[in-house]
Amino acid sequence: MMKILNLYCSMTGNTKKIALQIEKTAKSLGMMEVTTIEVTKDSDPNEFDLLDFDFIFIGSGVYTWLPPQIMIDFCRAMLNKHVDRGDVKSYSPRIDKKRAVTYCTFGGPHTGVNEAIFTPKFLGQLLDHLGIEVIAEWLIEGQFNSKNERYMRFNTEGRMGDITGRPNESDLQRVANWVTGVLKV
Ligand SMILES: Cc1cc2nc3c(=O)[nH]c(=O)nc-3n(C[C@H](O)[C@H](O)[C@H](O)COP(=O)(O)O)c2cc1C
Repeated sequence: MMKILNLYCSMTGNTKKIALQIEKTAKSLGMMEVTTIEVTKDSDPNEFDLLDFDFIFIGSGVYTWLPPQIMIDFCRAMLNKHVDRGDVKSYSPRIDKKRAVTYCTFGGPHTGVNEAIFTPKFLGQLLDHLGIEVIAEWLIEGQFNSKNERYMRFNTEGRMGDITGRPNESDLQRVANWVTGVLKV
């Protein structure tokens, strides 16, 4: 039985759609125990242990290039927990057979993927410091869910083109294919 952690933070519901697809696909493959956890402002890093899992998915939306502040704070608190426990060693030696995927959903209205790439990189460093190998970083378009006219225009006028309704069924199918692929690694 492979133990999978499916950790995500979603301010407006887009990343949640991806996380639920990851859960559904992983469960459908059989022999997978999937634990899905949403990070909120009340999340406590002591509630679970990253090192208990064989494979970790971790994702969030993009807010000024990085994960939302709630997720940044949570990653720092989680890192501090592991530093205090002595799990973060010099040169971060790899832990055998522990792998991860980091991902983001993003709008990219100004500079496209360039303003999103830091988010999966940021999320990956927590795991990389612990010795968990990040084998992929996924970027998935996510529409701006805002009534603010300034943000709504970004859904059609930005560098990614028309992202209305994203992530859509086709994005979810793509994620399902990717999950099926990476869990074989
Ligand atoms: C207030 C706000 C600020 C945003 N800022 C950015 C940004 O700086 N860069 C970007 O690529 N997308 C930005 N987005 C788009 C979100 O990253 C995108 O909608 C994402 O899918 C949201 O994911 P979530 O609902 O899971 O939090 C922003 C969206 C909102 C509502």
